[in-house]
Amino acid sequence: MATNRTFTMIKPDAVANGHIGAILNDIIAGGFKIVAMKYIQLTAESAGNFYAVHKERPFYGDLVAFMTSGPIVAAILEKENAVEDFRALIGATDPKKADEGTIRNKYAESIEANAVHGSDSNENAEIEGNFYFSQFERF
Ligand code: RTP
Ligand code: MG
Repeated sequence: MATNRTFTMIKPDAVANGHIGAILNDIIAGGFKIVAMKYIQLTAESAGNFYAVHKERPFYGDLVAFMTSGPIVAAILEKENAVEDFRALIGATDPKKADEGTIRNKYAESIEANAVHGSDSNENAEIEGNFYFSQFERF
């Protein structure tokens, strides 16, 4: 994946609260093009693998339980400077610290149920996109 792509998930809280449409609107209004998208429910195995970097953190078990608690929307997004610009669009991990107008400020419930995921580097964007999508599922 080139450096102009990032990977996102609309997390179970935001899906359950009816925010899929509003979040996709914000993403598109933010200048991102949707390259791939799917609506799925993660298994404990897939969520555990996805968040394996956090395996030793105290919140890991809760995070896997939360991420498998309902369906999510996974997507690959394209824009110049995608990783950094998308992290700016979603705001800080803790919605209480997220800037006004960011997706987490508007739609997140808590530091865990924080509405969206965004890749934290170009390298991880590529790994995460490949984790969810085959070459036939992105454009
Ligand atoms: P993400 O990976 O989902 O985009 O979030 P992030 O980079 O802003 O935060 P990260 O440190 O990578 O944490 C991954 C996800 O774990 C949950 N979390 N819970 N209970 C806690 O203290 C805590 N800290 C993090 C959040 O769902 C966070 O997005
Ligand atoms: Mg992260």
